[in-house]
Amino acid sequence: MLKSLPTLLSALAAVITSVNCESIKASAVYWLLAGDSTTAPGGGWGDAFLSTTVASGSSGHNYGKSGATTASFRAGGIWDSVVSDINSHKSAYDVYVTIQFGHNDQKETSGVTVAQYKANLLRFAQETSNAGATPILLTPLTRRNFASSTSNVTENLVEQRAATIDVATANNIKWIDLNIASMNYVNTIKRDAASKYNLASGDWTHLNEWGGVVFARIVSDLLVEKYGGIFESVTKPNATLSALIKAGQPA
Ligand SMILES: *[C@@H]1O[C@H](CO)[C@@H](O)[C@H](O)[C@H]1NC(C)=O
Ligand SMILES: *[C@@H]1O[C@H](CO)[C@@H](O)[C@H](O)[C@H]1NC(C)=O
Repeated sequence: MLKSLPTLLSALAAVITSVNCESIKASAVYWLLAGDSTTAPGGGWGDAFLSTTVASGSSGHNYGKSGATTASFRAGGIWDSVVSDINSHKSAYDVYVTIQFGHNDQKETSGVTVAQYKANLLRFAQETSNAGATPILLTPLTRRNFASSTSNVTENLVEQRAATIDVATANNIKWIDLNIASMNYVNTIKRDAASKYNLASGDWTHLNEWGGVVFARIVSDLLVEKYGGIFESVTKPNATLSALIKAGQPA
């Protein structure tokens, strides 16, 4: 029997209400990754983060840029793209922006002082919040240059790590300590095993494809460990890989 138009309309309205935006939003995250070459496609952890750690339904975009400092990332217009991507995805997703710099800011020639680095990180974070997304500051991925005297990596991002943590804690911004986690891991597996992640022979900063997968997992595990309530359901786990990393065994 044919239903009346008002009956059909109210049935349709009920269906629409049951799949309202809130229920879609709560279950999906859109990741925007801001950073330098250690996040960027072809040498960083960002692409692997999106392709191997993000659960189905969530996704994102890797804005990592080779050579970028916190200043050039803005001057070059990339930051504007991040903000416009927040605006285009925030109605359907919870948008998170990871912010990881330092490797180029720290260079003598960068023209970015530590004070400016801190101010730039804070401005990225504040603009992320103002646009309706959540910023997460990451201390910079360790370089993997081993010193023969200690058979550990040379800690050459100490100042950038401390600056990043200062900005986060002083302003109540979410953060994870990728620098220490990545450094402890490579210090434990040692030089030969760590060399397997090099983008090219002798490149102890950038990551090949598998290196990207391993360090993306470290990022993901740190997020889930620290902010599990938010990220667990939107993360695709790899228990085998996480266990190897946790045990300090080469992955
Ligand atoms: C090497 O690094 C590990 C882990 O980060 C640390 O426990 C150890 O004390 C370091 N060894 C030296 C000689 O610095
Ligand atoms: C999970 O990690 C293991 C161990 O490193 C690896 O062999 C495997 O390819 C990973 N699985 C996926 C789906 O990435």
